[in-house]
Amino acid sequence: MTGEKVLLDCDPGHDDVMAILTAARYADLVGITTVAGNAALEHTTRNALVTCDLAGIDVPVHSGAAGPLSGPTHDAVHVHGNEGLDGVEIPRPVRTTAGADAAGFIVETTARTPSLWIVAVGPLTNIALALRQDPALTQRVAGISIMGGGTFGNATAAAEFNIWADPEAADIVFGSSAPIRMCGLDLTHQVCADGEFIAWIEQLRTPLSAFVAALLDHYAQRILELVGEDLAALHDPCSVLAVTHPQLFGFGNHRVRIELDGAHTRGMTVIDRRVARGPVEVAWNVESAAVLELIRQAVASA
Ligand code: RIB
Ligand code: CA
Repeated sequence: MTGEKVLLDCDPGHDDVMAILTAARYADLVGITTVAGNAALEHTTRNALVTCDLAGIDVPVHSGAAGPLSGPTHDAVHVHGNEGLDGVEIPRPVRTTAGADAAGFIVETTARTPSLWIVAVGPLTNIALALRQDPALTQRVAGISIMGGGTFGNATAAAEFNIWADPEAADIVFGSSAPIRMCGLDLTHQVCADGEFIAWIEQLRTPLSAFVAALLDHYAQRILELVGEDLAALHDPCSVLAVTHPQLFGFGNHRVRIELDGAHTRGMTVIDRRVARGPVEVAWNVESAAVLELIRQAVASA
């Protein structure tokens, strides 16, 4: 565990489960908030609780937004399943939520926790609502580490899912004065779970490793069916490790704008690479093998 204090906002989701495990292992995880995204809020919240049960993670879980600030509600059930974690029998959670006001929890946690990192690996609705509630939180946080965006899309040709699911929220977050660290698809597609990775986890022979291996096996198969490639990217733990192990990443500083109106580009992150003086730390390079080893060890040590 490093000294970085982290509040993780997520929409479990297969790779979100890996982010929870990674944050619990390498950060001082002070709380988890959930948001609708990969699946409906009731499912993403249940999935976060179940992950904490299986890994013995004792942090408060607060549920949040059931949909975007505006616009249609999008999900990724075609990837993750109707209940967000296809590939396993999802147990009934033992743990319960500590509240249903994620934005309020984020605001109060930033007020009482100096140098807190917010790691956001789902649609940014909760973060935007927290910023609306208390704009001054931008001055209190160490930063906001976001899994989202990129120079290409996965939800559309131009937009990555987390940004596409709530572009107005992303516009509020990227338009704030908070320090932002961004792992987009250009980065996360360099960190993929292949058969060897999954087999190593499976041979750990623990209830958690069996759960994780089944999840990743399903996720890899589903991605192969959908895109025709072995591209089971572990998107979300990258944004955790960009905080706890920044030395494994190569960043560029760019201005990043969110497209809200384009008929074909709504939800696109417009990354201005003409000059290297923008406020957003965009991760372009990663020591993939080292990051994958850290993720493996997070499962092994839970
Ligand atoms: O585009 C990848 C992102 O969308 C990840 O956070 C994944 O969990 C989904 O939410
Ligand atoms: Ca996610």
